[in-house]
Amino acid sequence: MGRTKKTLLTLALGGLGLMLGLYLAACAATSEEMKPAKAPAQPPAQVVAAAEPADIFAVEVKPLTVADCARCHPHQYNSLKTDGRKHKFDCQNCHEVFHAYNPNKNNYAEIMPKCGTCHTLPHGQRFKECLQCHQNPHTPRQVSMGTQLSGNCGNCHTSPAAQLKEFPSKHTQQGCEMCHDKHGYKPSCSVCHEPHYEAQAFTDCTGCHSVHKPLQIAFTDDTDLKTCSGCHGEVYEKWSTTKAKHGEFSCTMCHGQHGLVPECTDCHDQPHSAALHAKYTNCLTCHINPHDLPVQNK
Ligand code: HEC
Ligand code: HEC
Ligand code: HEC
Ligand code: HEC
Ligand code: HEC
Ligand code: HEC
Ligand code: HEC
Ligand code: HEC
Ligand code: HEC
Ligand code: HEC
Ligand code: HEC
Ligand code: HEC
Repeated sequence: MGRTKKTLLTLALGGLGLMLGLYLAACAATSEEMKPAKAPAQPPAQVVAAAEPADIFAVEVKPLTVADCARCHPHQYNSLKTDGRKHKFDCQNCHEVFHAYNPNKNNYAEIMPKCGTCHTLPHGQRFKECLQCHQNPHTPRQVSMGTQLSGNCGNCHTSPAAQLKEFPSKHTQQGCEMCHDKHGYKPSCSVCHEPHYEAQAFTDCTGCHSVHKPLQIAFTDDTDLKTCSGCHGEVYEKWSTTKAKHGEFSCTMCHGQHGLVPECTDCHDQPHSAALHAKYTNCLTCHINPHDLPVQNK
């Protein structure tokens, strides 16, 4: 028991001494670089001796790690580190062969990793030259807007292109790049438009307008009715102050689509006597205004 403890202690102390020695050596090196004016602290001689193996060939040779590659290739390493995304794995997964370039053999292209080893053709047959767009495999998602993407948007994004075509609007007349001037960037409507009323949030615009078919306006149950006031101020004013029951219902309950005007009889059938309805075909002759029905006792 006691013996083992002692041995362990010795080992531990030895280990500590070794680490201390290395640490001091490192400090010495750093302080020498940083503050050349000060005399460097000298590590105790016996510790240095312990850190230096007697036979420099008596060490186990380990394969190069990513950090080892990084010492000489900081540029590629930092690219991967900051924006390598899903390519953030060991260099040698891609570079199975490296340091094999021979100008006499002119074999650079040959020894470089091939996208096809791991990928198929994700964008179809038309786009085979991966590096034309993914110019830096160490930052695979950085694809700059340029001749490769221009004019090709619709070949990858079929749905926006088809919508713009099928539902002509003034957005159709704009090229994709007028709005998407960087790849992947989606502008806010506020870049080019004013809201319908002062306090309207720009995050609400797409609730009614799908941007690639902006004139196909869709109303939902939670449509912000204040929007209507921007263009139908008088109607909105009447509706919001009326004492009749119609004021309790959403504009969109009666106008389910923009521009759609219902018949009173869609909801009311014919509430009066047949004689009265025969005589008056237009309900509004007596009820005046659907947004402000004349009502008694209210
Ligand atoms: C996803 C695969 C992949 C990974 C991971 C990767 N590389 Fe590369 N690397 C490539 C490809 C492909 C090329 C060739 C690019 C070309 O031809 O333009 C390349 C080129 C290089 C080059 C030549 C100079 C240059 O930048 O074009 C060096 C050096 C290099 N890589 C080092 C590294 C190091 C170091 C790591 C790890 C820190 C690493 N690579 C990780 C695929 C990869
Ligand atoms: C001691 C420095 C050093 C280390 C460590 C190092 N390289 Fe290199 N590497 C070089 C030099 C020098 C070149 C030639 C000049 C250049 O292209 O930067 C080179 C070239 C390359 C090239 C392009 C040319 C070729 O022949 O392949 C690749 C790819 C590459 N290294 C990958 C790696 C990878 C991966 C690692 C880690 C496993 C690594 N290197 C470790 C110094 C180093
Ligand atoms: C050693 C295998 C390997 C090679 C070689 C390779 N890739 Fe990849 N790549 C991957 C893996 C694995 C993923 C992650 C796939 C996934 O999650 O679906 C990936 C993902 C990507 C992504 C998406 C990155 C992200 O973060 O979403 C792009 C873009 C890409 N690769 C392009 C390329 C291009 C271009 C080349 C050739 C220059 C290439 N890759 C070479 C393995 C590789
Ligand atoms: C015409 C340009 C172009 C070409 C050529 C091209 N890509 Fe892409 N690729 C892109 C763009 C743009 C993206 C989207 C990048 C982003 O996220 O912003 C992309 C994304 C990817 C993704 C991620 C896909 C996803 O849905 O998440 C992979 C993987 C990929 N490319 C691999 C490849 C491979 C492999 C090749 C060659 C066979 C290739 N690309 C050729 C432009 C291109
Ligand atoms: C080679 C195929 C390819 C080409 C060409 C291409 N893209 Fe992309 N794009 C992608 C891929 C892949 C993505 C990422 C995956 C996704 O979100 O669909 C993407 C993402 C986008 C996004 C973000 C999507 C989102 O949901 O956030 C926009 C916006 C975009 N691209 C616009 C464009 C425009 C504009 C062009 C033409 C200048 C273009 N793209 C050309 C493949 C391509
Ligand atoms: C008038 C400006 C404008 C034009 C023109 C335009 N876009 Fe967009 N696009 C946007 C906005 C804004 C969004 C974000 C919409 C959202 O968040 O609902 C968007 C979203 C996208 C998206 C991601 C969401 C989706 O609908 O798939 C893609 C991809 C896209 N646009 C591609 C294109 C392409 C391709 C073209 C040309 C054929 C194009 N856009 C033309 C403004 C525009
Ligand atoms: C980069 C500028 C830009 C962005 C971003 C943009 N638009 Fe437009 N939009 C225009 C232009 C230009 C017109 C045509 C204006 C004109 O001729 O008066 C237009 C017209 C419209 C029209 C009328 C279409 C027609 O044919 O009459 C609607 C609706 C519209 N935009 C809604 C939106 C919405 C909603 C968004 C956000 C999702 C948006 N726009 C984002 C530039 C933009
Ligand atoms: C409640 C639904 C709704 C919301 C939310 C909405 N709009 Fe509209 N927008 C409409 C209607 C309805 C029209 C009229 C279309 C017509 O004239 O046929 C319109 C027309 C437009 C027009 C065409 C030019 C004009 O003023 O006549 C633009 C531009 C526009 N909207 C931008 C926006 C923007 C930007 C937002 C977000 C701040 C937004 N819209 C939010 C319903 C809405
Ligand atoms: C950007 C302005 C704008 C906004 C916002 C707007 N409208 Fe309109 N609306 C119009 C225009 C322009 C017409 C066509 C006028 C005409 O034909 O006399 C119209 C027509 C109508 C019509 C048909 C009128 C008729 O006589 O045929 C109804 C109903 C209507 N809008 C309801 C609404 C409702 C409900 C909202 C809110 C959810 C709304 N509008 C928001 C501009 C707008
Ligand atoms: C209870 C059903 C109902 C509600 C709620 C309603 N409307 Fe109407 N609206 C009608 C009917 C019915 C007509 C047709 C009147 C006619 O035939 O002259 C009409 C006509 C209109 C017109 C065209 C005639 C005009 O007076 O300018 C507009 C615009 C309009 N409504 C907008 C709105 C808006 C905006 C709201 C919400 C603020 C709203 N409506 C709420 C039933 C309704
Ligand atoms: C989308 C359905 C709808 C349409 C269209 C509609 N109404 Fe109504 N109306 C109602 C509902 C629901 C009530 C409330 C009934 C109740 O509470 O008993 C109502 C109530 C009324 C009342 C009683 C008012 C009160 O405050 O007590 C009158 C009068 C009336 N409607 C007339 C009309 C006339 C006239 C039209 C056509 C111009 C019309 N309505 C169109 C749904 C509609
Ligand atoms: C000649 C005038 C006149 C015409 C035309 C007329 N109404 Fe009325 N309506 C009235 C009067 C007055 C009342 C209120 C009587 C009452 O409270 O009993 C009334 C009440 C109503 C009520 C409320 C009934 C209730 O039980 O509270 C509805 C709903 C209604 N009318 C719908 C219609 C519709 C729909 C039409 C057209 C198809 C129409 N009216 C045509 C005069 C008219």
